[in-house]
Amino acid sequence: MNRVLACVLVTLGCLASGAFGQVVNYTLTAAPGTVTVAPGVTIPALLFNGQLPGPTIDVTQGQTLRVRFVNQLSAASSLHFHGINMVNGMDGVPGVTRPAIAPGQEFIYEFVVPESGTFWYHPHVEEQMTSGLYGMVRSYPSNPAADPPYDVDVPVILHDDTTQAGGFIGGMMGGTAPGLAGHFMNGATSAGQVPISVTSGQRVRFRFLNAAVRSHYVIALDGHSMDVTHTDGHRITTLTKQAIPIGAGERYDAIVTMNNTGTWSLAASGLFNRTTTVVRGVVSYVGSVASTPAASFVPTNLATGTLLAYSQLSGFGTTTAISASPTHTYPAVLAFNSGMGGMSFTINGQAWPAVTPINVALNDTIQLDFVNGPSPMAGSFVHPMHIHGHAWRLMGTAGGTANPPTKDTLIIYPVGLSGSSASVQFTADNPGEWMFHCHDSEHMMMGMMTTFAYTADFDADGLPDDVDWDAKSSLPALTISESSSAFAVGGVGAVKVQAAPGTLVNLYCGIPVAIPYLAPGLGTLYIDGAYPVIYGGTSIAQAGLDANFPYYVPPNAGLAGIRFALQAISWPMGTMGPFVSTWHPMTIY
Ligand code: C2O
Ligand code: CU
Repeated sequence: MNRVLACVLVTLGCLASGAFGQVVNYTLTAAPGTVTVAPGVTIPALLFNGQLPGPTIDVTQGQTLRVRFVNQLSAASSLHFHGINMVNGMDGVPGVTRPAIAPGQEFIYEFVVPESGTFWYHPHVEEQMTSGLYGMVRSYPSNPAADPPYDVDVPVILHDDTTQAGGFIGGMMGGTAPGLAGHFMNGATSAGQVPISVTSGQRVRFRFLNAAVRSHYVIALDGHSMDVTHTDGHRITTLTKQAIPIGAGERYDAIVTMNNTGTWSLAASGLFNRTTTVVRGVVSYVGSVASTPAASFVPTNLATGTLLAYSQLSGFGTTTAISASPTHTYPAVLAFNSGMGGMSFTINGQAWPAVTPINVALNDTIQLDFVNGPSPMAGSFVHPMHIHGHAWRLMGTAGGTANPPTKDTLIIYPVGLSGSSASVQFTADNPGEWMFHCHDSEHMMMGMMTTFAYTADFDADGLPDDVDWDAKSSLPALTISESSSAFAVGGVGAVKVQAAPGTLVNLYCGIPVAIPYLAPGLGTLYIDGAYPVIYGGTSIAQAGLDANFPYYVPPNAGLAGIRFALQAISWPMGTMGPFVSTWHPMTIY
């Protein structure tokens, strides 16, 4: 059987890796660590590559982003790229788009980035989101003229400390670090800010990201107006504003022309309390002798400057119009419930995981009518609602039906305020099962999540889209245990290869190849034929839609540290085969 793979390898070895197109590689290692957030204030956190925030990922629209995610946490984890409408199997939602990645293991997320804009990444494990695992993705347009002109590009990432909410930072050390404020900008408190240096006349593009788990902010720059150009990565008709509300998960890009020499506060307040600065950065003109504004200083722009409102947004450039006759209109009633069964946050009366997915068909136009409440305390909750794999068009704005703005995260305001209801439309153009949830991590943990599920079989591989780990590829997807014990010397686990019932599947194990071989129509080979290839058995896919390969790791300490590649070859019944599966790395410890 070994010869089969070797043979395929030899046959396809001549195909150059150039066929992959442009690939941008990053490695993100998630691990516990400590971070200094202000002079003399070092706190425990979970970090990507030891940094807070994680590294900013730069990519150009149309390129393939390949991120090697290494999980050095004590729990299973995943990476979700918020706002990037990639293939479903790479969306990083444990159990929905693929199993989670076991502690000590890794996974290679690889997908085409279809759009330009400001996006971000974080694990899709609620309690890990609170603890420092987040970073920005900047996707530059393939045609640079698609962006308004600017000179420099500055990420401004807000986050909150959830010590009070029982998050990791407090939970691990059992308390708050002395002097630790509750809010961060670019990984530091107000006291820990490194001034952003600018020059007169410079056009600075601020990329604002609210990566907080519970907090919604207003952000403003003292002494300057901001030309707001994008929301959630999507271009809008430029609006000149003094202050921007930004809910958890949202992004705004704003270009500021530096025309007022000095040293200025870039200040954030809570969404409903604009008279208190909770964290501030510093923007300082080269040569300015002005003193640094106090952390507590409240710029006029923050307190009373003109505030951006959703109703003022309109899409810029080619936008999809609002349909007068969407295929389906669904309510999205957001509620808090407390009763005999405990407390929960629900969408249409259901709390995750006891939800009925909302079924959609390819090319449907779906309208969602959000309503906050009813619930006993409905007035007190803000819900930043987010959809995966799609972006929605906001209705009832200055863009009207012809040029609606496009977003992926939308604040639904408390009952009694404008914005407590809203309607959006989106086109069902990305098969799979996609999360639709509130981005407040506590609301998520307490149930405010559901999914949109495509139920056809887009790639005709015999697996319905909503359960297919790879809904747009007919190649079988290989997954492995989520538990760390499955990778220990002497441990047991299972490899599963998704395939239609009756498909014959052979599993192989070997050394990962340096440059994968692309085999058009068959898949990509990741096992290096130059080394011994271990035949891992044959299994026939069952009604559960996978071929199961239970394994045990031989009790041989000499195996520790070896990194294998696992890959399978399948022969679906009644089709031309073979097909090569996706691969999974496995490191024995
Ligand atoms: Cu920021 Cu479900 O994601
Ligand atoms: Cu919520």
